[in-house]
Formats: sequence, C-alpha cells, structure tokens
Amino acid sequence: MKRLLFLLPFLLHANEDFISHYEYGEMLYQQPRGVSCAQCHGENGEGKVIVEFRDIHGKKVLRGPDIRKESFASMLNSVNSYHKIMPRYYLTDEEVKAIYDYLQEKNRDYLCENEEENATR
Ligand code: HEC
Repeated sequence: MKRLLFLLPFLLHANEDFISHYEYGEMLYQQPRGVSCAQCHGENGEGKVIVEFRDIHGKKVLRGPDIRKESFASMLNSVNSYHKIMPRYYLTDEEVKAIYDYLQEKNRDYLCENEEENATR
C-alpha cells in the first residue's frame, strides 16, 4: 500500500499529461503555425469543400480529403512535403503526433465502427 501511495502522484500526473496532449493536438490542428488544418480538412478531419468555381471546362470543386484514417507515417509525410494545394508545414514529429492522436481520439467512435464494418466484410 505504501508503495502504491508513492506511485499516486505519478499516475495523476500521467492522466493530466494525456489530457493536455489532446488539447495540445487540438490547438495544433486549429493553429499549426500556418493555415489551419480544419479549414481544408474540416473540424474532425472528415474533409470538406474548400472552394467551388467555374472555368472553361465547367464547374470545379476543390476539396480537402478525409484524413481520419490516415496513418501517422502518412500524416508525417504529407505535412512535411510540398503539394499542389496543401501548404508545407514546419512542425516537429511530436507536434504531428499530437495532431494525429487528437484526430484518433476525436474520431474514436467513427474509427471503431469502420473497423467492425471491415471485419465483417
Ligand atoms: C489549403 C488547404 C489545406 C490545409 C490548410 C491542409 N491541408 Fe492537408 N491536404 C489538402 C489537400 C487538397 C490534400 C490532397 C493533396 C493535395 O492536393 O494537396 C491534402 C492532403 C493531406 C493528407 C494526405 C491525405 C490524402 O488523401 O492525400 C494529410 C494526412 C493531410 N493533408 C493532413 C493535413 C494536416 C495535419 C494539416 C495541418 C497541419 C493540413 N493537412 C492542412 C489541403 C489542405
């Protein structure tokens, strides 16, 4: 028992850390030292229409893809490279991990449902 009491502050601290890790991820997703991820990938990473316009070929829709199922490796790669539309970011691996964990946690129900669907297929 004495030993457990000794561990208690560490356990409480670990819990606190986890909450702040989520909030940190949320903050970075909204304000990643550049254009907010949410502006193109939606509040939860579900994707959204960025802009609709018309050119000589007709109606065009620019869309930020759904990134809820992206792996951490793929997210690291996307954030660190140049694209046609998405800007390149200068975030550390830890910062990208916080964004990744935030989206995983926020979409936990959605991701679980999909896992079940995949399992029965
Ligand atoms: C200006 C709009 C915009 C912003 C801001 C943006 N993205 Fe993207 N993102 C895109 C688009 C569009 C793509 C598809 C590749 C392309 O054409 O650039 C993409 C691709 C991705 C992909 C790969 C998914 C795929 O299907 O290709 C990931 C992961 C991703 N973005 C994560 C992020 C994160 C994390 C942030 C914030 C740090 C962010 N994006 C900010 C528009 C954006």
